[in-house]
Amino acid sequence: MNPPEACDRTVLLDLDVARNAPPAEMPNLTDSQRRRLERFGLLESVDIHCHCLPGLDDGPETMVEALELSRALVEDGTTTVLATPHQLGRFDGRNESGEIRRKVGEMTAVLKDEGIPLRILPGGDVRIDERIPSLIEQDRVMTVADSGKYLLLELSSDFCISPIPLMHAMRGKGVELILTHPERYVYLAKEPQKVIGWVQEGLHLQVTADSLTGRFGELAMQAGWFWLERGVVATVASDAHHVTPRRPCMSDAIAAITSRLGRRVASITCLENPLKAIKGLPIGRSGGRQYCAGLQ
Ligand SMILES: [Fe+2]
Repeated sequence: MNPPEACDRTVLLDLDVARNAPPAEMPNLTDSQRRRLERFGLLESVDIHCHCLPGLDDGPETMVEALELSRALVEDGTTTVLATPHQLGRFDGRNESGEIRRKVGEMTAVLKDEGIPLRILPGGDVRIDERIPSLIEQDRVMTVADSGKYLLLELSSDFCISPIPLMHAMRGKGVELILTHPERYVYLAKEPQKVIGWVQEGLHLQVTADSLTGRFGELAMQAGWFWLERGVVATVASDAHHVTPRRPCMSDAIAAITSRLGRRVASITCLENPLKAIKGLPIGRSGGRQYCAGLQ
């Protein structure tokens, strides 16, 4: 295994831009947040996939529950969360962009009132749909942090629809796709090499933190590590919905990746690329083929 220093230098160069933009919304960081930022030398620790807005999808039903989840994120060291309510699929016609932005504004005010040091940004967990290019134009589906650069794409859990035709259509609009939790689709976890082919065409992967620690079963864990060890995972995120049965635990994933692949890989996948994604900066290199050079 190559040392962390083998990772792509262009990643670090890009991130220098991000380092110059401290978020003003976080005056009272908790000890766990401060430790995370000091350890990795960054100004934000971003979770780019979390169902943390109340009353929109299968995440928290009430603001009280949403605040519980927010406190759990903060206790785990996260400083910034992308709110990603489900869009399309079974939520078709609901949770459109204006509603998500409005809820994020409302939640931001409540977090401030409650003294919870968590920055919240708008996003969506968008179910694959041939209408996505036109819905983007109509401002009805959300890109990551509203930057217009990345879109979190969810597939069907039952059958495989290739995201590649959509990826090409979106590329024409300047939007890149980040496929959420590929390791949790049995049909992809059983064919991990096929997903690497998609990455080589330009698709980004987001693996769920809990998959790496076995909370989604052996198959998901194996697939998640298979891709991580080959350097093709762009980001890791919690995809947290509630505090029970599982609390958001990016810290466990960071520890597991550090132990197995080194701190540099943990930094790129759990902190640097999520931060770059919310800022609309390039993640990966050579069209997203490999995020951590030397691992393959
Ligand atoms: Fe999700």
